[in-house]
Amino acid sequence: MASGGRALTDMSAAAGAILEVNNIEVVYNKVVQVLRGLSLAVPRGQIVALLGSNGAGKSTTLKAICGLLPMEDGELQAGQIRFDGAATDAQPAHQLVRRGLAHVMEGRRVFEDLTVEENLVAATYALTGRKAAPKDFDAVYAYFPRLHERRKGLAGYLSGGEQQMLAIGRALIAEPQLILLDEPSLGLSPMLVEEIFTIIARINAERGVSMLLVEQNASVALAVADFGYIMESGRIVIDGSAERLAADPDVREFYLGVGGSGESRSFKDLKHYKRRKRWLS
Ligand SMILES: Nc1ncnc2c1ncn2[C@@H]1O[C@H](COP(=O)(O)OP(=O)(O)OP(=O)(O)O)[C@@H](O)[C@H]1O
Ligand SMILES: [Mg+2]
Repeated sequence: MASGGRALTDMSAAAGAILEVNNIEVVYNKVVQVLRGLSLAVPRGQIVALLGSNGAGKSTTLKAICGLLPMEDGELQAGQIRFDGAATDAQPAHQLVRRGLAHVMEGRRVFEDLTVEENLVAATYALTGRKAAPKDFDAVYAYFPRLHERRKGLAGYLSGGEQQMLAIGRALIAEPQLILLDEPSLGLSPMLVEEIFTIIARINAERGVSMLLVEQNASVALAVADFGYIMESGRIVIDGSAERLAADPDVREFYLGVGGSGESRSFKDLKHYKRRKRWLS
């Protein structure tokens, strides 16, 4: 099992990665430290999963990457983030979007009072600075035929899964190089989760879009990811290839709910548990 230190070694091996996050520290409201020296990398063309329990700092990591911390009185106090070879700190969020960094936020923020198509029109203007042409939406509708069927309907009346599709569709408008996805499975039925993740894998395979995928649903994320990181309390505690993490007995028991009681416990509990097991054996 690799440590947070190993992540750094992996990161230098991934030189030229589309995204490199090196030892970042993030503080909210000048006092609450949420990220404590977090490092990760997303190699070009790969899907990387960032896993961990509630409050570990996954969404904060994504907000730090795409420049949204200032909106929440958060501050990147140490470390560096490089997207496509250039440091991100001097670039406002909208400029990063134009350089090909898309963010699908937690809770699928769509404009509920606009139709599906109007949501895509708004995204075209916001992301590209130009008016939408009907063909702009062909690629989105090809991945999500259901959105085409509902294009004249209000986004607020879409099901949770369809709103997630629209949120991902809006990100695709900018033809991103990297998409940050925050819990696309949240609140969806297992069938819809499978449908959305199949499309995520297709977008990656067919368009070469790299992805950083934040999930609490570790098994579904590792099924599509190439590499995975597990974080606890603002740090990476385990990393490895998705196959290795999915097969690791500790990860299976503590993050995939397979093996023990099935309830998810933290990595700290895992260490206590391993110690206890040693004493008992
Ligand atoms: N805007 C904010 N101001 C102050 N504290 C915040 C803010 N946003 C998040 N936090 C705190 O930072 C910690 C990490 O939050 P974050 O949302 O990054 O976790 P997460 O891993 O995404 O959790 P979840 O799985 O529940 O979405 C939490 O303790 C949270 O309360
Ligand atoms: Mg979150």
